[in-house]
Amino acid sequence: EKGTYPHYMLKEIDEQPLVMRKIIQKYQNDQGELTIDQEILDAVNEADRIYIIAAGTSYHASLVGKQFIEKMANIPVEVHISSEFGYNMPLLSEKPLFIFISQSGETADSRAVLVQVKEMGHKAITITNVQGSTLSREADYTLLLHAGPEIAVASTKAYTAQIAVLSILSYVAAKSRGIELEFDLIHELGIIANGMEVLCDEKEEFESIAREYLTVTRNAFFIGRSIDYYVSLEGALKLKEISYIQAEGFAGGELKHGTIALIEEGTPIIAVTTQESVNLGIRGNVKEVVARGAHPCIISMSGLESEGDTFIIPEVHELLTPLISVIPLQLIAYYAALHRDCDVDKPRNLAKSVTVE
Ligand code: M6R
Repeated sequence: EKGTYPHYMLKEIDEQPLVMRKIIQKYQNDQGELTIDQEILDAVNEADRIYIIAAGTSYHASLVGKQFIEKMANIPVEVHISSEFGYNMPLLSEKPLFIFISQSGETADSRAVLVQVKEMGHKAITITNVQGSTLSREADYTLLLHAGPEIAVASTKAYTAQIAVLSILSYVAAKSRGIELEFDLIHELGIIANGMEVLCDEKEEFESIAREYLTVTRNAFFIGRSIDYYVSLEGALKLKEISYIQAEGFAGGELKHGTIALIEEGTPIIAVTTQESVNLGIRGNVKEVVARGAHPCIISMSGLESEGDTFIIPEVHELLTPLISVIPLQLIAYYAALHRDCDVDKPRNLAKSVTVE
């Protein structure tokens, strides 16, 4: 039930802090430590390479998950779009492990790959919101998202839940491999939940950003570098699917290799910057597009802000920033769709789960 909310999407955005806290609780043992089933850890530790397979928003969460697994647990990871993987399979490593990420657990493109890799004798974990879903039943192991039902077609809380569960899997796997990590994930996820709450209380800000930048535009570009690039892909998908604005996410440095030709007077550019290592780089990219007339909206993380930034998000652990930097993008997409009189929860041509290949 959406209760007093006008749309499920807004309710589900607001539920994200609670979902973070629920995930921490569900993945904690009696001693208050994060835990993952031993057989899942064994499968992860036996693998020489992990292949993550997903579609849409779940693919974007997977790109973030690759960073976690590689940086925390030191296992190489490839991320693939499910509809491509089955027909254009890369050379697999000797001991591959597959992780399927799917909110619904019913995405046919992902299921086709799961059937194929099971036939090849490989192990698979499904990370899903729906216990008993097809992908969960057909994989060897399941990790649940505990996000509660997601009704709006545009995925919001499932994305952040996927990233949170991937962070826990990576963190616990790292510990089981004897890797010392210099942060306490429970503490960091708690900071994230608090930061999400702060952002969810700033709705008027995001409504006015959407009004200023996106009410009449034909197109919009989202840019970021490194992990912020993955979030910009998700911001663009959110915006295009519910507001029908042609939106694209780009790695900031890639713009000059072609896309910058599309920048005109007033073209909205939404830049996300949460990483110290690329902060100057992305700001340089913003200058390049501003020089060609773009209308920049800069969303920066506290500590990296510059004068004139449009919105500053609370500071969180630098690996985990997608959990928080996506919230402004979700809310901006929501209000853009609202201002343009679009059907927010049920956008045209889309179904909640895509059960055809
Ligand atoms: O249920 P799944 O996570 O497998 O769904 C994958 C995509 O169809 C889904 O994320 C889609 O891109 C959403 N509508 C995005 O908001």
